[in-house]
Amino acid sequence: MAGGAFAPASGGKEYPGKFTGRVFLTCIFAATGGLIFGYDLGISGGVTSMDVFLKDFFPDVYRKESSVKPSDDQYCKFDSQILTLFTSSLYLAALVSSIGASIATRTYGRRPTMMASGVLFAAGAIVNGLAKNVVMLIVGRLLLGFGIGCANQSVPIYLSEVAPYKFRGAFNMMFQLFITIGILIANLLNYVLARWVGGDTAWRLSLGGAIVPGLIILLGSCFLSDSPNSEIERGNYEKAKDLLLKLRQVDNVDEEFNDLVEASEKAKLVKHAWLNIFKRKYRPQLVFAFCIPMFQQLTGMNVIVFYAPVLFKTIGFGSNASLFSSLITGIVNMLATFVSIFTVDKLGRRKLFLMGGTQMFICQIVITIAIAMKFGLSGNPGVISGTYAGAVVAFICIYVAGFAWSWGPLGWLVPSEIFPLEVRSAAQSINVSVNMIFTFVIAQIFTAMLCHLKFGLFICFAVCVVIMSIFIHRLLPETKGIPIEEMTTVWRSHPHWRKYFDEDDAKVETRPKDIVSA
Ligand code: BGC
Repeated sequence: MAGGAFAPASGGKEYPGKFTGRVFLTCIFAATGGLIFGYDLGISGGVTSMDVFLKDFFPDVYRKESSVKPSDDQYCKFDSQILTLFTSSLYLAALVSSIGASIATRTYGRRPTMMASGVLFAAGAIVNGLAKNVVMLIVGRLLLGFGIGCANQSVPIYLSEVAPYKFRGAFNMMFQLFITIGILIANLLNYVLARWVGGDTAWRLSLGGAIVPGLIILLGSCFLSDSPNSEIERGNYEKAKDLLLKLRQVDNVDEEFNDLVEASEKAKLVKHAWLNIFKRKYRPQLVFAFCIPMFQQLTGMNVIVFYAPVLFKTIGFGSNASLFSSLITGIVNMLATFVSIFTVDKLGRRKLFLMGGTQMFICQIVITIAIAMKFGLSGNPGVISGTYAGAVVAFICIYVAGFAWSWGPLGWLVPSEIFPLEVRSAAQSINVSVNMIFTFVIAQIFTAMLCHLKFGLFICFAVCVVIMSIFIHRLLPETKGIPIEEMTTVWRSHPHWRKYFDEDDAKVETRPKDIVSA
């Protein structure tokens, strides 16, 4: 049996706590932080496929794209590093800001960091909506990036801390749900504006519209309290206990509260989280904080999210049909996320990772064959039938669904729940930074990859999906149903990772009776 299949049943603890309206609303408000990331992910691809936008800011790309005849090589018509820099610059900003945001989440709390994200994002939206030149576009995108860095740093941790541990998976995944809603709203807006409004107004409204999700997270976080863990981290014990009682809606939260205080006291001994996180005892989790976001991006999902309109245009769809097809993929992405929300705390993380991976792999192979047969190496497809186009869109949708119930939400859930409090913020910042670096790389090199690798593009991602699935199968312990401050037990009892722990590293010991096969 693979090493990863062993896990303590519940870390030995059973804290009381129900699925309450209060915790549900708290998580919904916080999860709206995913809207800003999603809106941005969805909006840039559509805007860069609008001819007026290209004419205004990237006239060379526009000239190149519009001079390509149907009989020419279609693979390379969008190949422009400046155009991709427009999309990808934001992720560099998010990377930088997530490091600052990690200090803010630890020092000032999760909630103020969420508020900052709303303000920065709204400011970026205004600059972009009023942009007169490429410099304004880039400055706006940097501000948006700072906002996203703050939100992605604070929201997943907040959700994992506030949720009762038995439902942590589902509540945390609301972040991903709002990411997909953000993408869908952006796709819809791009489609409606390009089709019925057109001209400069279309792209200005698309980019400026980002102010709405910015204000939503800002207002949403005004109604929130900070997480009990964060209050304890800053010494506000009474407030934390009060919060915990309200969130759990039970009369006695002493056991959970005492464990949070204990975790926090241990955390206080760690002065420099950034130096400590590289210690041997955090090595197992650190491997995942790096590999999970990296692999999430190497699934190739963002090729679809950013460039579906460009991809659909490349395979011969008209402008509106391309935006419409992206809309369909956006709907599938959102709906499929519910599958993981409803199953993650029952099936567990490992099964979803592996099932989603298999589904994505099969689709990537089919899409590669379909594109290879029609476009070959020359990139000249001849006449494309409706059946062919429909089949490609269908397989892209099944692939998107595979991502949406596996690597999408789990990519944010797992790194936010595996670290102890003392290094959690620093670890989340590594998670966000790695995610952003790889998002940047994919966004930046996609059009060049398409141009040079042609139909082989998807094969690269398919190989990555095989590698990441083996990695999960062999090395990821199951974390479902383990209280967050008890998580060390799963690493200490894992056949591969236990060698990284000394006996006195953690107070919490593995209990042999709790070891089960997941
Ligand atoms: C990823 C994004 C991706 C989105 C798609 C998120 O979890 O981090 O890069 O675009 O899912 O739904």
